[in-house]
Formats: sequence, C-alpha cells, structure tokens
Amino acid sequence: MEEYYFVNLKTKTIGRKVVCHKKVTSTNDLAWLEVTRGAEEGTVIIADEQICGRGRFGRAWSSPNQKGIWLSVILYPSLFPEETFLLMALGAIAVTDLLKNKFNLPSLIRWPNDVIIGNRKVAGIIVESKYVNQCPNASVLGVGMNINISESEMPSELKNITTSLLIENNSAVPFKLEVIIVDLIYLLDKWYQKIVNKELNAIQDTWREFSAVLNKNVSIQVKGQSLEGKVTDLDPCKGIELKDRSGNAQWWRGEMVDMLRVQQIG
Ligand code: BTN
Repeated sequence: MEEYYFVNLKTKTIGRKVVCHKKVTSTNDLAWLEVTRGAEEGTVIIADEQICGRGRFGRAWSSPNQKGIWLSVILYPSLFPEETFLLMALGAIAVTDLLKNKFNLPSLIRWPNDVIIGNRKVAGIIVESKYVNQCPNASVLGVGMNINISESEMPSELKNITTSLLIENNSAVPFKLEVIIVDLIYLLDKWYQKIVNKELNAIQDTWREFSAVLNKNVSIQVKGQSLEGKVTDLDPCKGIELKDRSGNAQWWRGEMVDMLRVQQIG
C-alpha cells in the first residue's frame, strides 16, 4: 500500500493523517497505540494484512494480504458514552453508501454492524471506546471490507455467509484498493461531520433507510436465549425494537445481542 495515495485528502477530520503498514496484528491495536501517543483525531491506520484481525465479541476477522480494506480510524467525539453507537452507524452507513452509489450494488445493513449484499456479509464494523488522556470517549472505528477475494479463495465454511466486491461484481480483475480507500475515507468523513454538527436526524433516517431488518421477522440470541419477533423500529443508540407475537415491544441494544437472523419467508 503506497502512502502517497493518501496525502492531501481534502477531508475535514478523517484522513488528515494516514499511516500505512504491510503486516500487523490488528489495525485497531496500532490505532490504540497511536491514541496513547496523542494521535490527532481522524488519523487512519491501514494494513495490507492482519494476522489477528478482530470482530465484535472477540471473533476472528480474516484479513488476507491485499484482499480487502482493513483500516481503523481514531476519533475523539463529543458524545455521551451511550451515544458512541452512533460511530458504528456512521461506519456501516459510509460503507453502504459506497457500495450503493459507487458500485451500484444493493447493499444493506444487517443490524448492528454487518454490511450485506443479498444475504452475505461483505463488510463489518467494530467500535472500541475507552477513557484515555482525559478524553472520556477516545474511540477506534475499525472497518473490514472484503474486496479481492474470489469465490475459490473463500474458505468453505464462509462461502454461504460471506461475499466480496470481486464476487458481487462478477469480475476477475482485482480492484485497486487505494482508489476505493480514498472514496471510503471521504464518505466516513462526510458522515462523521453529521455527528460533529449534531445532524443526527440524517444518521437516524439513513440508518432506517439502509436497514435489512426493519419490519422484518427476526430471531435474536440474547445471553444464550433465542427470542423471535418483528423489528418495528431501530435507532443507532437505543438498538432495535422487537415486537413479539403477543404484541409486547422491547428495545435491545447492540452489545446485548450475540446474533441476529432475518427469518426468510417462503
Ligand atoms: C465484525 O464484523 O464483527 C467487525 C469486523 C471488523 C474488522 C476490522 S478490519 C480493520 C479493523 N481491525 C481489526 O482488528 N478489526 C477491524
């Protein structure tokens, strides 16, 4: 990954500084190291390959060399701790915006953090927040996006549940990662400015518009228990509102739900 692609990005916050690495444990680890060194807000850490990429709930995230976009963004948002879920929404919205509007792909967000095409995951978002250097909400937003993984390279256990841009584009010619990264950084910055400027309605409306689960019957796993119902509302901070068969509605926050499955009808 050549660093010169990313100098002079005309963004307000995200991408003012970009650091590129070849092989790392996890770009999130490097981002936290930079936070402790006082990195400026919006710094982006990118790697060609991660050997310990991580997803939500400590799940492993496969990140083979130059086959996808593996990046982390350092943010110091002025948000209450319960509002940091907005960052997850911002990441998922930016990736979906990119896939819909640059690649014309019918991508949606499977709450809370999966970007899907059809029923297969193409990207995942993770947000980690800590109290560091007097900042109550120092946050690292990690984005993992499968780009140049072909159908034959996809591990067999992931074939039915995971996809990539190459597969969805029916193409054999690999994409230039740098070009997509620039577009992604612009969109991450565009959506982050909505948070900075407190235009939270724009995030809320798009969160609903891009949702794969709103008004769908789903089953969720909460502390090992399976619950079923219809998603009647969703909100980046409050989570999803699930209405059961008896009409009782309850909100569930992202960190409480281990897994969500959309029930396929017919
Ligand atoms: C998920 O689907 O659970 C989230 C996956 C997030 C993966 C990205 S890749 C870049 C960054 N570094 C990591 O270790 N994880 C995130």
